Amino acid sequence: MSADDGLGPLAARVPEVLRGSAAYHVPQPPNVRAKLDANELPFAMPLELRQRLGAALAEVALERYPDPNARELRALVASQLGVGPDQLVFGNGSDESIAMLVDVFAAPRTAHVHGGGGERPAAILYPTPTFVYYRLAATARGVEPIEVPLDARFELDETAIERAIEQHKPSVVFLALPNNPTGTLWRTDFAVELAARHRDIAIVSDEAYFAYSGRTNLPHLAAHPNLIVMRTLSKVGMAGIRVGFTISSPAIAQLLEKVRPPYNVSSLDQRAAVFLLTEARGWCAARAAEVVAERPKLAAALAALPGVTAFVTEANLVLAKFGAGRATKIWQGLADRGLLVRTFDRPGPLEGCLRITVGTPEENAALIEALTALC
Ligand SMILES: Cc1ncc(COP(=O)(O)O)c(C=O)c1O
Repeated sequence: MSADDGLGPLAARVPEVLRGSAAYHVPQPPNVRAKLDANELPFAMPLELRQRLGAALAEVALERYPDPNARELRALVASQLGVGPDQLVFGNGSDESIAMLVDVFAAPRTAHVHGGGGERPAAILYPTPTFVYYRLAATARGVEPIEVPLDARFELDETAIERAIEQHKPSVVFLALPNNPTGTLWRTDFAVELAARHRDIAIVSDEAYFAYSGRTNLPHLAAHPNLIVMRTLSKVGMAGIRVGFTISSPAIAQLLEKVRPPYNVSSLDQRAAVFLLTEARGWCAARAAEVVAERPKLAAALAALPGVTAFVTEANLVLAKFGAGRATKIWQGLADRGLLVRTFDRPGPLEGCLRITVGTPEENAALIEALTALC
């Protein structure tokens, strides 16, 4: 690669921040027998359900564009959550919902906040370490990401958040409740309090792991028109389709619809999502409950390993600290045994940490056996 990244004169058109940043990358070693790196549901759908799903998908008219309004899925989700259909906006995964929120509220061409010193570029704010796509969505759009560090136990410093809000006047605040990759569940009411105190900021309660925490800010939406709840099907059995959604005031939903690519959720995705939320609903709930039951066992087994700290978690993952450098060696040892977890062992607050998705009981046992040999 030349200094201009092979782009030639086109390089001058690409923002510096994009040229200098890395694409989202997930290592994929060969022969993985337990995939515990992406916080997916570890259970595959049973054959009988798959066959019914296959039959349902075979009926989908693939020669046609998808329903741009996802009417069937919309009506179903609205009735299950007890919200209006006009409060929902579907994304190609909640990644796209995040991007749409940044587009609407923070993209420099559309939003400038008038602070004490005159106009300033729009910013988004979130505690860190957290889900990386908040930063990626911001930087790709030329929006400044304001990062407020968590404390040493990955708990939220509410005062620091308030201070940073006053200082930077962000357009959007993202709170992952519970947080990824730490698993910590911060005080959920804090999002509601922020929404009440800062009516001119979109406060996002990202509830990707709701199935594992049981905590939601959904009941507070009606009283707080600037509060947005975000959910996804990725963590409850269908990461392979890409369906996430926001629940908000109809006014915010209408704005998000203006930036949503018209056919962003495919017909197959819509049909599969309807299947998951109807015919596979009981299976899905039972498997999520199994993960919740496995979680403390896995956390306790990790904490019992020599020199390992396991952090408190309310998601389907456990973050564990093995030590700087040691975590990388252990990650490799696990990968060599076909056990894939996520490493964060590089300089920063997560140095020495591995994030382990709660697997099936068999996968968790295999992981602990391997770690016992490696630690
Ligand atoms: C906190 C959080 N929000 C959002 C997402 C995005 O999920 P998806 O795009 O698969 O819906 C993730 C994925 O890991 C996450 O951890």
